[in-house]
Amino acid sequence: MKIALLGKGKTGGKVLELIHEARLSYTLFDSKNIPSNDKLKGHDVIISFLPGEAFKTYLPLLVETKIPVICGSTGMTWPSEFDSQLKEKEIKWIYATNFSLGMNLVQQMILIMNKASKIFDNYKFNIHEIHHTKKLDVPSGTALSWKSWAGHEMEITSDRIGDVAGIHELTLTTPHEIISLRHEALDRKIFAEGALYAANKIFNDKSLAPGLHLFQDIVQLELNKK
Ligand SMILES: NC(=O)c1ccc[n+]([C@@H]2O[C@H](COP(=O)([O-])OP(=O)(O)OC[C@H]3O[C@@H](n4cnc5c(N)ncnc54)[C@H](OP(=O)(O)O)[C@@H]3O)[C@@H](O)[C@H]2O)c1
Repeated sequence: MKIALLGKGKTGGKVLELIHEARLSYTLFDSKNIPSNDKLKGHDVIISFLPGEAFKTYLPLLVETKIPVICGSTGMTWPSEFDSQLKEKEIKWIYATNFSLGMNLVQQMILIMNKASKIFDNYKFNIHEIHHTKKLDVPSGTALSWKSWAGHEMEITSDRIGDVAGIHELTLTTPHEIISLRHEALDRKIFAEGALYAANKIFNDKSLAPGLHLFQDIVQLELNKK
């Protein structure tokens, strides 16, 4: 599997470390070596950890190559009908605002907390997230996913501190108890591991249909296998 890695910053750099460990072949793209149709030819999978705005400028080019894409870029919205466009052209892409495999276990836990309304009359949820000072999107995409999994209106507060890779905490408060669920990324390698897991999946699993797939849906299928 030959990988085209877009972005070798804080997160892309971790993908690069794992690519070296796995002795995979690759080409690196950044502001000094920008991707083009010719340069991308011969790659099996494209992995992007470019900032969202930069990634979006390359969208038409990436679709044109027909190479499967693993997109970790955040802070952008997908063009409307993008999934249909990929299906029409029979191209497979996987995206996630958080490629941590552990986040999929967290999702299951949040879906349980979502049931609070069945037993409590008086309760409230809130999320607090902390990231490094260079993160562009506030609140984080992960915090927004947590909110949608919890299925309740809630306040999201954010801090931007030092080089924090990512801390998310969901709190359920009732008059007499507090339940907190906290996920802390200790190393950006967790995102790189998930992105390479997705790259292997998209390259090897011929049963994966064309279209724009959410990484979480793919991992949930694995988790639900007997
Ligand atoms: N989905 C996930 O699990 C996950 C996890 C962590 C981060 N992220 C997201 O990943 C993205 C990158 O985050 P980061 O912290 O790794 O960023 P970063 O450290 O700033 O690195 C960005 C990289 O993108 C390159 N780049 C920027 N603009 C470019 C352009 N126009 N053309 C080509 N290359 C360009 C930079 O190259 P130069 O240095 O040459 O400018 C650099 O290598 C963000 O959107 C972040 O939110 C996602």
